[in-house]
Amino acid sequence: MAILRVRDLSTTFDIGSQVVTAVDKISFDVEKGKTLGIVGESGSGKSVTSLSIMRLLPVPMGQSTGQIFFEDTDILSLPVEDMLKIRGYKISMIFQEPMTALNPVHTIGQQLMETCHLHFPKMTKEQTFKKSVKMLEKVGIPAPEKRINEFPHQLSGGMRQRVVIAIALSCEPDILIADEPTTALDVTIQAQILDLMKELQKKNGMSIVFITHDLGVVAEMCDDVAVMYAGRVVEQAKVEELFAKPRHPYTHALLESIPRFEFERKSKLQTIEGMVPALADLPEGCRFGPRSTFEHKEESYKVRPPMKEISEGHFVEWCECCQKGLEKKLSEVSL
Ligand SMILES: Nc1ncnc2c1ncn2[C@@H]1O[C@H](COP(=O)(O)OP(=O)(O)OP(=O)(O)O)[C@@H](O)[C@H]1O
Ligand SMILES: [Mg+2]
Repeated sequence: MAILRVRDLSTTFDIGSQVVTAVDKISFDVEKGKTLGIVGESGSGKSVTSLSIMRLLPVPMGQSTGQIFFEDTDILSLPVEDMLKIRGYKISMIFQEPMTALNPVHTIGQQLMETCHLHFPKMTKEQTFKKSVKMLEKVGIPAPEKRINEFPHQLSGGMRQRVVIAIALSCEPDILIADEPTTALDVTIQAQILDLMKELQKKNGMSIVFITHDLGVVAEMCDDVAVMYAGRVVEQAKVEELFAKPRHPYTHALLESIPRFEFERKSKLQTIEGMVPALADLPEGCRFGPRSTFEHKEESYKVRPPMKEISEGHFVEWCECCQKGLEKKLSEVSL
């Protein structure tokens, strides 16, 4: 069952000289108790998507249209005061940049305990303190009973991110949106935090939207994956299916760029040439065409390729030129 259904979500920014579209009519579901990974390179619209769900876009420049159903409520059309009852309670977010999420003039303990108190008002002060210390311990903060009295600036970047994660998780939200939550952390701490998220998911049936560049983490954490390219979802499937049978050339290129141990050391790591096109000059039609080496007809840049369900739950933005090129490339490889 889907707990969050995003339908035709578009987000634009008025940058003065023009209005740019950062997210262009995307749709996806987040299943209850499951993890949806959102992958795609820098600038593809992952953070804008999560800020749109949280309704935290800068006003008045950022505007979203479409629908975002949390259970049966379209949160995009909710009055601000009703959104306050959802944000931080039902849906909570770990931001890419931890410092923006912490208040510099309060100790981390005050911030953590305040969150705990808001969510669990029946707890005594002592219980709240204990829960906060335990949370800090769980995210790998050493000497938490001491550290709890420190201010954000006294902590390293990695520590701050762990505090932010502790705050977001202590709300025990129905949906956690984690935007590159562990990129700044070293691998052991990263593993610990991923385990903690999984533990809470198991305990509370929490759903997670996990945004990352790291396909290894996707394989480990996610049930479903949405691949974004230039503001659109170009492919979506169950994680095993996407890794085994990618059908969009961009997904293909992404998977090819993962280093593999079984390859000879000499073999070169594939990289995807070129860059995501600038928002100001995105075609309405196929956006990956200019980046791919595949021949594209003029027409394919004019009309948006439809989403095609190629097998149950596996959706691909279907550009005939991309598909023809990919097929040709694959047949050459297998020769
Ligand atoms: N406040 C804003 N005003 C104007 N454009 C913006 C704003 N915020 C984001 N954008 C643009 O929207 C596009 C998508 O940005 P977004 O931050 O969602 O990318 P991302 O996929 O999260 O990238 P990264 O992996 O680097 O975090 C980018 O081109 C970005 O420049
Ligand atoms: Mg981002």
